[in-house]
Amino acid sequence: MELINAFNAPIYQFDIIDSTNRFAKNLCKNNPQNGTIIISNEQSNGRGRLGNTWESCKDKGLYYSIILKIPDKNIKCELLTLYICLGITELLSDYSIECKIKWPNDILINNKKVCGILSEFISNDNGVFIVVGIGVNLYHSLNDFKDELKDKATSISLNTNSTIIKNFFINSLTSYLFDYYNYFLQDNFEKFIDIYKNKSSLLGKEISIYLNGEFICGIVNGFDDNGCLLLDIGNKVIPINSGEVTLKDTYKK
Ligand code: BTN
Repeated sequence: MELINAFNAPIYQFDIIDSTNRFAKNLCKNNPQNGTIIISNEQSNGRGRLGNTWESCKDKGLYYSIILKIPDKNIKCELLTLYICLGITELLSDYSIECKIKWPNDILINNKKVCGILSEFISNDNGVFIVVGIGVNLYHSLNDFKDELKDKATSISLNTNSTIIKNFFINSLTSYLFDYYNYFLQDNFEKFIDIYKNKSSLLGKEISIYLNGEFICGIVNGFDDNGCLLLDIGNKVIPINSGEVTLKDTYKK
């Protein structure tokens, strides 16, 4: 099946590359077309959030980056990842998969991670871009995950009876991203907050969040129209705009 880009922009395909995000960021120097996509069958240096690596073994996962232009300085860039997550939940529901969003950038199936997103902000003479890197575990069996990931990670094929045709999956992903990028440009997250809450794996849960060198504990109360997580810490509710969330059940162990 042929790859089609709903943004009508180029698609760069590699058999192996260090990181599709690194390549995409480099392309931003040459004013790439909005919606330019970079895909590789394997990554030798796949990168995750907070300096983590992203396991990117050959043909098992999808390693995909897309370059999205930010046309307006006033737009809230932090919201883009939240919209992207909503698009991905729709994509997975086409495979009859019920998934949840772990704010800000993970997609979980039964509390196991199936997809991670790394959004990187670039500003240069050509304007402002966000490189959205998406890693999806597609064809992994349990044995394909390292021991330490076996109870934390899952794949699409472990959770669906549908056949996964990689290029079909990529084309659907791009067309959902096209839709959600356009919602993002409309700058009206308020309209999506209830949908987002409904898809959240964290709402009502007791969590700990690592922020500026300290752990803050509280109960997730909701999300605001800046894309912040609202944390009830007992005497007040505070907005959190980034950080690594751990569920209380997990940190108790
Ligand atoms: C995370 O969960 O920490 C984010 C993982 C993002 C991985 C993807 S794979 C394609 C793109 N290229 C990279 O080097 N990283 C992202």
